Amino acid sequence: MNYIEVETYEELSRKAAAIIAAQVISKPESVLGLATGSSPLGTYACLVKAYENKDLDFSKVTSVNLDEYVGLTGENDQSYRYFMNTNLFSKINIRKECTFVPNGCADDVKKECREYDERIESLGGIDIQLLGIGLDGHIGFNEPDEVFTKETHLVDLDPSTIEANARFFPSADDVPKQAVTMGMGGIMNAKKVLLIANGKNKEEIIKKAFFGTITPKIPASILQLHPDVTVIYSKN
Ligand code: F6R
Repeated sequence: MNYIEVETYEELSRKAAAIIAAQVISKPESVLGLATGSSPLGTYACLVKAYENKDLDFSKVTSVNLDEYVGLTGENDQSYRYFMNTNLFSKINIRKECTFVPNGCADDVKKECREYDERIESLGGIDIQLLGIGLDGHIGFNEPDEVFTKETHLVDLDPSTIEANARFFPSADDVPKQAVTMGMGGIMNAKKVLLIANGKNKEEIIKKAFFGTITPKIPASILQLHPDVTVIYSKN
């Protein structure tokens, strides 16, 4: 594992964007696994800047996102589809039809999950997966559990995740209670993994996940078994 500690969120964002940029430059038809939340906002802003400076071309890139809340359509400004469109896709030249986010409003969620995994497989897998980490150690919405779940699946969100994400909603009651998330199979099959985290409150979980026991009770700990992981952490 390549563990990098930096001083500021800006430095974290520049470094993460540089790693993704290198991937896109060396393989223009890359499949990027993307995340939402507050951690990647700076990284996406740096990628947009690189695109505007004509240093990056996303015209051949495909993206697959980690997760989506159940019950929110892409038009809902709290949905992860809306987040990706607003913070990245609408600002770069990626083809919209080559951006995939699980459909949280699918009538048949099981079918949606199966088809999401089939799509990832048909794309040849993910070249680089960007991840944040939850305070409980979740990646995507793979919450602490007795087992690691391999496939894309429906999850009940942990009360601590609902509380942490309430900052984006009018109240905790408005946070959806379920989500569809890529499973550990999709994440672990990515050729490279890049996990970013910032803030003093993430220090403890970073220590447990990357320097402690590998256990489904700390889902991110499985990444210790991945052959090509970079973790960038900034306390500030
Ligand atoms: C979001 C996702 C989540 C977040 C995690 C950290 O797509 O998969 O695992 O990465 O909840 O969220 P932030 O970055 O908001 O602290």
